[in-house]
Amino acid sequence: MPFITLEGIDGSGKSTISSLLQERLREKGLDFIAIREPGGTPIGEKIRDLLLDPSYSISPIEEVYLYATSRAVLVREIILPALNSGKIVISERYLDSSLAYQGYGKGVPLKFIYEVNRPAIMGLYPDLTILLDIDPLLCIERLKDKKKDRIELEGLTLQKNVRYGYLKLADFYKERYLVIDATKEPQKIVKEIIEKIERLKR
Ligand SMILES: Nc1ncnc2c1ncn2[C@@H]1O[C@H](COP(=O)(O)OP(=O)(O)OP(=O)(O)O)[C@@H](O)[C@H]1O
Ligand SMILES: [Mg+2]
Repeated sequence: MPFITLEGIDGSGKSTISSLLQERLREKGLDFIAIREPGGTPIGEKIRDLLLDPSYSISPIEEVYLYATSRAVLVREIILPALNSGKIVISERYLDSSLAYQGYGKGVPLKFIYEVNRPAIMGLYPDLTILLDIDPLLCIERLKDKKKDRIELEGLTLQKNVRYGYLKLADFYKERYLVIDATKEPQKIVKEIIEKIERLKR
């Protein structure tokens, strides 16, 4: 069954689209699990707390290791077993988030990010990556009432570079990317994703 990842800058709609997508898959009677990164396992949730806590200062290289550790546990304990038992897996964020944020956003060499992550993901790349593409200025408007976590506090320039990075990745990995205009109505976005999933064979 397909492994589907949702990517996009902060506030682009990953959680919103994931929960609507889950409703549609449920209605269709499809077996799936939905997870988010970092997190998704007890170890991963602890790493998530560390990463998102504004009271810590964590360097970009240290972030690469922490995200990769959370990802390694998630792949081994949750994602591979679910795929092997025939379930669809939907993940909010995966490897491409590290490439976009730590790589394009913060200047960590992409080669280093691949090297750290390669053993962590054990060869598992997504079958489909949905990029919810949106101008960061619109996201700031969307998120203005939400309590900001450490990553989100890093600002507009970072978000612009991350968006640029995602678009580069989408261009590079054309065969697995679906780029969607994230200002469209959530129901329309989900319809596009469902149509794409139905065309996927694995
Ligand atoms: N397609 C959409 N059109 C309009 N508003 C949307 C759309 N998708 C999400 N939103 C709104 O934007 C805000 C951010 O959405 P959401 O929390 O799903 O983003 P996210 O990508 O999961 O963010 P984060 O990276 O912080 O987890 C929410 O208030 C949500 O209701
Ligand atoms: Mg979210």
